Amino acid sequence: MQDLLLGQTLRFDADPFQAGPEAARHERRGAVLVENGRIAAVGAADLLRAAHPGARVHDYGEALISAGFVDAHAHYPQTGIIASWGKRLIDWLNTYTFPEESRFGDPAYAQAVAESCLDLMLANGTTTVCSFCTIHPESVDALFAAAQARGMRVLAGKTCMDRNAPETLRDTAQAAYDQSKSLLTRWHGVDRLSYVITPRFAPTSTPDQLAALGALWSEHPEVLMQTHLSEQREEIAWVADLFPEARDYLDVYDRFGLLGAGGLYGHAIHLTDRERARLREVGAALIHCPTSNTFIGSGLFDMAGLKAEGQRIGLATDIGGGASFSMLRTMAAAYEVAQLRGTALHPSQLWWLATEGSARALGLGGVIGSLTPGAEADLIVVDLASTPVIAQRAARANDLWEALFPTIMLGDDRAIRAAWVNGQPVGRS
Ligand code: GUN
Ligand code: ZN
Repeated sequence: MQDLLLGQTLRFDADPFQAGPEAARHERRGAVLVENGRIAAVGAADLLRAAHPGARVHDYGEALISAGFVDAHAHYPQTGIIASWGKRLIDWLNTYTFPEESRFGDPAYAQAVAESCLDLMLANGTTTVCSFCTIHPESVDALFAAAQARGMRVLAGKTCMDRNAPETLRDTAQAAYDQSKSLLTRWHGVDRLSYVITPRFAPTSTPDQLAALGALWSEHPEVLMQTHLSEQREEIAWVADLFPEARDYLDVYDRFGLLGAGGLYGHAIHLTDRERARLREVGAALIHCPTSNTFIGSGLFDMAGLKAEGQRIGLATDIGGGASFSMLRTMAAAYEVAQLRGTALHPSQLWWLATEGSARALGLGGVIGSLTPGAEADLIVVDLASTPVIAQRAARANDLWEALFPTIMLGDDRAIRAAWVNGQPVGRS
């Protein structure tokens, strides 16, 4: 059976940071043909209708069909403590995050939060997330099972910590290695799931634990590794105290085999020139979390400078350090943060970051994140007039970008009219 989705379509031939907005292909009356979970064709509605008369037609009118959003860094266990008031990073972790994460040894609790988190993601148009779990293997099983039930492509790993965390949230170097390895073996490559080796960040791991996880990564170079890097100044000073022999924060990871092209480094705000050069040299991915960076007061990510020097960059909510599940809200925050650094990111660049940019950061370019024949059919249908204020602004638009930008700046889950996952409609379609 074939499905033919009709609406405006938006795809990219290249990275708009390099090629400009002309990298975008916009079809006013476009169509996406879906077959066997994949995008079979993208083109003009008239042509695809005529060529596929047997396809089931889903006419979304003036709405915009796009690849689903890809959230490249989130903590699903923090769903329950989203929008907790008023702390800096280390305080916020100790006051809100760690007590909540302590609850995820209970499989029923983990399952309930995993399901609620993925449903919130889908309602916001996010069809893939790369998430931290907690120290408990049960928390990984819960998220992967919930993703499997929804047919979602999800990446995740057990968050390892063996110091500077409450007793109930600490493992050991050996347990981190053993449990990560066993979860990796059980889940990686099953359906649409990928295991990600996950040391939380340098301060919560002993050198032994970092070395053990570095060893595991070298035994399994096919998986990604995710962590945090240079988010707040106090954190960087703490890392310098804990690892006096390291040249800088990134060097801690480098020394323990935790730096590479498959590495995902969340935040990466306060980087030295040496760290930038080294990240670029290995081809690591930096994950920009703008709502979190403003919410926790972390700082202003240098999007323009980092893109100009050729870094790979993804975009993410950082739930629950970030206080919104919406990648639209996240794009708006990325726009505002860049403005504060003197750059106006173009809507094409923002949309690309939230889809293909994040997919590429996760090593999934061409698989998800783009409306390309052969890619997996994770799609969203975006209402460009979802609220009165957006509708009245979009009505004056002279081109696609003017029509899209009000939704980027003012939109939320009400703008997501439908989502398709693995070629199947979910929820409100
Ligand atoms: N650094 C280490 N852990 C965390 C976390 O859970 N959230 C954020 N924003 N930063 C971190
Ligand atoms: Zn994080």
